Amino acid sequence: KLKAFIFDLDGVITDTAEYHFLAWKALAEDLNISFTRELNEELKGISRMDSLEKILQFGGKEQEFSEQEKLELATKKNEHYVELINKITPSDILPGIEKLLRDIKQANLEIALASASKNANMVLEALKLKDQFDYIVDVTKIKKGKPDPEIFLKAAELLKVDPSSCVGVEDAIAGVEAIKSAGMYAVAVGPKSSFQKADLVYETTEALSFKEIKERFEE
Ligand code: G6P
Ligand code: MG
Repeated sequence: KLKAFIFDLDGVITDTAEYHFLAWKALAEDLNISFTRELNEELKGISRMDSLEKILQFGGKEQEFSEQEKLELATKKNEHYVELINKITPSDILPGIEKLLRDIKQANLEIALASASKNANMVLEALKLKDQFDYIVDVTKIKKGKPDPEIFLKAAELLKVDPSSCVGVEDAIAGVEAIKSAGMYAVAVGPKSSFQKADLVYETTEALSFKEIKERFEE
């Protein structure tokens, strides 16, 4: 039986995935590494330091920086990112999300956030959505990032529901993989071709339908 929804944040609730991309792209260009939207798909859902490692690998520069320098690079990216998102307001909530959250609550189901971002609390506050979530997983306490299922399993544990009663909503390939490894039902947002592993795919957040997800989950 369906009991809870667990949401990713960036690219699902709001379009901060675009700002992560722009900030990483600027950093990559500073390092003379060419960085495309296609490569960016591999970064979605991945933690800050793991993302930096991937970018350095794309450029063949993973050996060139000390741990201290890597921390500085990641901090630089984050400062740029924070600057880019400092103007976000509730008008930046993606279409269809507020209705979906309302429909979930109306059906008396639980809602949690499973975001890999250390900025998640700040973003949810700026969107004025914090009250809609029963739990927000503290990513600083998670040992393994997506595609490991840990963050989704932690959310289910906090909600006190079995993973098999949960729907996870993601825009990242690593995220969908994490949801499936957690034994949950995976709803992906994005192009159908990218999400063979998802149980249900919506091209846009606007198309998300609580009724349809519930029916398909129960099939
Ligand atoms: C999410 C995003 C990633 C981002 C990561 C870490 O998973 O999808 O693009 O790099 O969070 O975010 P942070 O705000 O902690 O740097
Ligand atoms: Mg995402």
